[in-house]
Amino acid sequence: MRIEHWQTQDERRTVIGVEGLERPLTLMHITDSHMAAADERDPEALEVAAECQQLFQNLTPGNVPPQQLFEQALERSNRFSVDCTIMTGDIIHFPARAAVEIIERGVDALRAPYLYTLGNHDWHFPYLPRNDATRLEFYPRLAHLAGHSPAAQVMALGGARLVALDNSNYQVTDEQLEFLYRQLQTGEPCLLFLHIPLYTPTLAPPVLDNWKIPIMMAAPGWTEQARKKNKMRESDPSTTACHRLLTRGAPDNLVGVFCGHVHLAHAGELCPGRFQYVTREGFRNGYRVIRLEPL
Ligand SMILES: [Fe+2]
Repeated sequence: MRIEHWQTQDERRTVIGVEGLERPLTLMHITDSHMAAADERDPEALEVAAECQQLFQNLTPGNVPPQQLFEQALERSNRFSVDCTIMTGDIIHFPARAAVEIIERGVDALRAPYLYTLGNHDWHFPYLPRNDATRLEFYPRLAHLAGHSPAAQVMALGGARLVALDNSNYQVTDEQLEFLYRQLQTGEPCLLFLHIPLYTPTLAPPVLDNWKIPIMMAAPGWTEQARKKNKMRESDPSTTACHRLLTRGAPDNLVGVFCGHVHLAHAGELCPGRFQYVTREGFRNGYRVIRLEPL
């Protein structure tokens, strides 16, 4: 399948030529808004909500609440008449009911469909252990935003397939990998949306610069000490298999991988001719308009 990535100088605009599309498509990618909010329904989160709200507001351009930037981003989706808005996680800083409702109000105002996949903060309160039990406990609060299928979703749109996998614990399960295979086997152009980017040699330097640890999926370079401190287990075989599938001679009909998590903007090859795009964090007014043109 012919797929041509036309690199622009603008980190907020990606243009890709795709063979087999029925029509041009415009997508809005938003990630990592880190909105913190809570009310009396989550009393134990009240204090941390106030702290985190201020912390992220201090990092926004113009010192505005991250919620304002999130709402502006969704208004932009409507103004640009996008075909779909895709949110790749950490849109909220923890899953207090009041925070989830901010997302609900936002997506209710969208005129086109949306896809929401979870990040590692979406399901985790700072005072709880970061593990799969916590993740499963809070999945239900966000499941309705993720099509009641947070682990793996797909949307068919204009001859393309938008696939979203939740890899917010740095892992992909056998079932998710099977789901991805099935989508790719349709032969239609597939775009993959994840929270956590795949390790690539070109993404590693800016990530290490920012974070000092390699917070990418299937990344080498974790020390035992850093693994312990960050509760980071080794990659499961299915995670390694997914990384291999997407980085070693990636499937012919993979248009691109789009993700967030590392709070920077980046475009780099997964393998010759196939790209991964990382979108800047929403609380710094990051977003990416993805334009797909039929070839
Ligand atoms: Fe994240």
